[in-house]
Amino acid sequence: MAQAHCVQVDPAFVQAPEHRPKAAISDADGVPLVDLSPLFSDSAGDTIPATLLSQVEVACRDWGFFQVINHGVPLEVLKKAEAAEKKFFALPEEEKLKVRRDGANRFGYYESEHTKNVRDWKRIFDFVLQERLDVTGLVLKNRWPEVPLDFRESIEEYAKCVEKLAFIVLELISLALNLPPKRLNAFFEEQTTFVRLNHYPPCPYPDLALGVGHHKDSGALTVLYQDSVGGLDVKRQSDGEWVRVKPIPNSFVINVGGIIQVWSNDKYLSAEHRVSVNTERDRFSIPFFFNPASNIDVRPLPELVDDRNPGKYKEYNWGEFFKRRMDSDFKKLEVENIQI
Ligand code: SIN
Ligand code: FE2
Repeated sequence: MAQAHCVQVDPAFVQAPEHRPKAAISDADGVPLVDLSPLFSDSAGDTIPATLLSQVEVACRDWGFFQVINHGVPLEVLKKAEAAEKKFFALPEEEKLKVRRDGANRFGYYESEHTKNVRDWKRIFDFVLQERLDVTGLVLKNRWPEVPLDFRESIEEYAKCVEKLAFIVLELISLALNLPPKRLNAFFEEQTTFVRLNHYPPCPYPDLALGVGHHKDSGALTVLYQDSVGGLDVKRQSDGEWVRVKPIPNSFVINVGGIIQVWSNDKYLSAEHRVSVNTERDRFSIPFFFNPASNIDVRPLPELVDDRNPGKYKEYNWGEFFKRRMDSDFKKLEVENIQI
């Protein structure tokens, strides 16, 4: 006779019924795949093939999401970063807590992330590409663990390579918007970009909890490496169905964030997504959140606005927005500390 199984459910993780994932999410008719090899072939000149640009344009317009293969990031860099990530999360909790995010420093390890006030079934480690104490009061400062020994080197190398890819994609998107290829580059001279390591442990109640609750990314672009487990779900713009992003070994998932949505004046929308969890397997991913300088005022690009297509957004300051986000995360942290 089957043994009755009693699962203790922590209400902090339970999603509202309308946000709980269905038992089976299909990966059919999923996000488009773009092969970037024409950019790296020996015969590649300065001109970008029209077919490649049109693939990027359609993916951004219809999905806000796509996957890229042959992207120029060396395989050994990916593998080293993934190995370092797994070693770090396998450390005893007290070791990871030595580099925990706190009031003075919002980067490092954190085991209690929330999305829309529901706790996510995951642990994270964040670090910024450019450390600085910003004019807006943003403290961008990293915290590195002493072990694993090659941790910092492996993920900084990863960040450097993925940054190159992010600039390539930014140029493709500029061209797809009929702008000069480097039109958006100046916004990123002093970036607030950060890299996040995500660990999603197996979850005994994957029908109730999510690894990350439904949300839209607010930065410019996200470039994400995911392992073979799968769990990233995207809301298809054509019919509002959730579809699974099928893991393709050594590929990256790219998505348009809120800033590109505003710059493009809604030509490209930031798509809703979430992460489903499972009872059996740990899942690991590494998103690179490509964010502009904190002093950038975000508004629809003047070239994309005219009388027939007026600007749809009021200007906002990225640094202030980013700081508010960080502070609201931190307030939750304070409340939790009081409760403990
Ligand atoms: C996220 O959207 O923040 C994470 C996505 C993933 O882990 O696949
Ligand atoms: Fe996201």
